[in-house]
Amino acid sequence: MKILITGANGMLANAVKTRLQQNPETELICTDVNDLDITDEVAVEKMIKEIRPDYVINCAAYTAVDKAEEVDYELVNRINAKGPGNLAKAASMVNAPIIHISTDYVFDGELDVEKSYVESDPVGPVTVYGKTKLAGENEVKANTDKYYIFRTAWLYGEGNNFVRTMLKLGNSKDEISVVMDQHGSPTYAVDLANMIAEAIEKKIPFGIYHSTNEGFTTWYDFTKAIFEYAGIICKVNPVTTTEYIDMMKITQAKRPKNSQLNKAKIIAQGIAVPTWEDALKRYLEVELNQK
Ligand SMILES: NC(=O)c1ccc[n+]([C@@H]2O[C@H](COP(=O)([O-])OP(=O)(O)OC[C@H]3O[C@@H](n4cnc5c(N)ncnc54)[C@H](OP(=O)(O)O)[C@@H]3O)[C@@H](O)[C@H]2O)c1
Repeated sequence: MKILITGANGMLANAVKTRLQQNPETELICTDVNDLDITDEVAVEKMIKEIRPDYVINCAAYTAVDKAEEVDYELVNRINAKGPGNLAKAASMVNAPIIHISTDYVFDGELDVEKSYVESDPVGPVTVYGKTKLAGENEVKANTDKYYIFRTAWLYGEGNNFVRTMLKLGNSKDEISVVMDQHGSPTYAVDLANMIAEAIEKKIPFGIYHSTNEGFTTWYDFTKAIFEYAGIICKVNPVTTTEYIDMMKITQAKRPKNSQLNKAKIIAQGIAVPTWEDALKRYLEVELNQK
């Protein structure tokens, strides 16, 4: 089986490559922006027609959520919306399903934190990143029926990420302040990559799937767990988002209060969705053993 991966130097793409390489019968064609700029419609069609992949996995995106508020909207939209549309259109020409990655930011994040978002809940993005990612979902849906859209959140894996930042801070400070009023599910890229691979292997029905690790937490409680599992002594002070922004003297794109995605649909397909605690322990084993 031939699989084309775009944005192949990104955090999720790295985990996807590692997972898919486990199957010796899978041939991976990995492209970064220099090999294939997904915003280039002609180049996308040419490459996909030449390769004739069995699946296209789009890991390319404009992911700088705060910077997206400042740069030209069209630039972000080209990468997050037009690009996925180009890929979906070309993939459908060779009858290949597309796997596209989306985000909790397609919702407004105002849902009661006692609840979690299901796939069919009304969307309502409030940031440039969220609006363009939603436009990307719509572009994919408009160009092919054979799509998987995996909405994820709070991703961490190889490279710089929240857990690594907290490990550094925890090892260098006596106390830190972390936001306690944003609720979601941290997601280990290795586990999301496995969900993507299992979706291909099990040929689950096409559609949108919420795909984070299981269980919900806050950045504050997540940080406490990081320190506990890593054996770090550092006091964690809970602060509200508003207090944090004041304290750090920063401006940032509005963060969703509720990023909690309900995984019942993907779990019903027999796909493994480990808890965030289990995922964090596995990640720390890798991360701390590298030191
Ligand atoms: N990270 C999170 O917390 C999070 C949460 C929810 C959803 N997601 C979604 O998950 C997916 C993967 O995220 P990630 O964190 O792995 O992203 P990432 O590390 O930022 O990787 C994205 C990759 O896309 C590449 N890219 C940018 N513009 C491109 C273009 N025009 N053509 C081809 N490649 C291009 C980037 O290359 P350069 O670096 O060279 O620009 C980068 O290698 C994205 O769809 C993202 O929206 C992420």
